Amino acid sequence: MAIGKIPLIWLLGLALAFGVAAAAPAQASSSSSRVSRHYDFFIREANYTRLCREKTILTVNGEFPGPTIFARNGDVVFVNVYNQGDKNITIHWHGVDQPRNPWSDGPAYITQCPIQPGSKFT
Ligand SMILES: *[C@@H]1O[C@H](CO)[C@@H](O)[C@H](O)[C@H]1NC(C)=O
Ligand SMILES: *[C@@H]1O[C@H](CO)[C@@H](O)[C@H](O)[C@H]1NC(C)=O
Repeated sequence: MAIGKIPLIWLLGLALAFGVAAAAPAQASSSSSRVSRHYDFFIREANYTRLCREKTILTVNGEFPGPTIFARNGDVVFVNVYNQGDKNITIHWHGVDQPRNPWSDGPAYITQCPIQPGSKFT
């Protein structure tokens, strides 16, 4: 990734976080058994202190780890990512297959352009 070491670590953290945990309500619309789920991720920086040092991390909707995406096999998930930070970002989806959708898989300048500060990517 061409966006530097620290953002890469943040993004890995975000990606890992999305692979597992907690809750955010999704709007769901049904067409037969397939459901479209829509999420808004507002990416912002936040300062936190660990081991007497302050660091800046990226949060999703103010949370770290970020919210969990709930979906069933066959659902279509749309995630609007709003970059409200001051660096280029991408989101890499560990463990989430993206058949016919490789341009959303995260590696900046490999499968997609970075999401620039103030921009949105779905
Ligand atoms: C984090 O701390 C730095 C240095 O004090 C400050 O310039 C920056 O605005 C802070 N960022 C946030 C998101 O609060
Ligand atoms: C952010 O992305 C844009 C578009 O790809 C690029 O022109 C710019 O150089 C990038 N900024 C940094 C700091 O990498």
